[in-house]
Amino acid sequence: MEALAAFLSEVDLTLSGLDAPSVRLWIERDERGAIAGSTGYEISGDGRHALIRSVAVAPSQRSRGRGRALASFALERAAEEGAMKAWLFSRRSGPFWQSLGFEAADRDELAEALADTHQVRLFQQTGQLGREVAWSRLLDVV
Ligand SMILES: CC(C)(COP(=O)(O)OP(=O)(O)OC[C@H]1O[C@@H](n2cnc3c(N)ncnc32)[C@H](O)[C@@H]1OP(=O)(O)O)[C@@H](O)C(=O)NCCC(=O)NCCS
Repeated sequence: MEALAAFLSEVDLTLSGLDAPSVRLWIERDERGAIAGSTGYEISGDGRHALIRSVAVAPSQRSRGRGRALASFALERAAEEGAMKAWLFSRRSGPFWQSLGFEAADRDELAEALADTHQVRLFQQTGQLGREVAWSRLLDVV
C-alpha cells in the first residue's frame, strides 16, 4: 500500500481512501519489481455503479497500450462484480477514456450514483467536485 501511494503521488492521483473496503486495487510490477501501473475502482453501496480510479502507468512505460489494458481490466472486474455502469473523474485524460467508450457525464449525477464512495465524499467536502470533469459508460458490453 505504501509503494502504491508513492506511485500514485508521483502521477498526481488521489491517495485517500485506498484502504476503504469498497475499493478494489491492482498493481502491475516491472521485471525489477517496481510498480509500472495500477488500476482499480470503488463500488457503490448498492453494487450497481463503479467509480474507476487509480488507473496509471509509469511515465517511462506510457503509450504502449498498458493504460488501455489496465483500464479494461478494471472495467471487466467491475462488470463481473455486478456493476451496470462505470464512472470516473478525469480532467486531463478525457480522450483516453473516450477511446474506451466513455462519454462526458454530469458530475452531479455521478455524485448521486456514487454518493457513498470515499472519493465523492472527499471531493464534496473539499469543494473539488465543482472543478472535476465526469465521464461514464455502461458496462453491458466490456
Ligand atoms: C492515462 C494513462 C493511464 C494512459 O496510459 P498509456 O499506457 O499511455 O495508455 P495507452 O498506451 O494504453 O493509450 C491508449 C490510447 O489513449 C491515448 N492516450 C493516452 N493518454 C492520453 C491522454 N492523457 N490524453 C489523450 N490521449 C491519451 C493514447 O494515445 C492511445 O491512443 P491510440 O491507441 O489511438 O494510440 C497515463 O497517461 C497516465 O498514467 N496518466 C496519469 C494518471 C491519469 O491521469 N490517470 C487517469 C485518471 S484515473
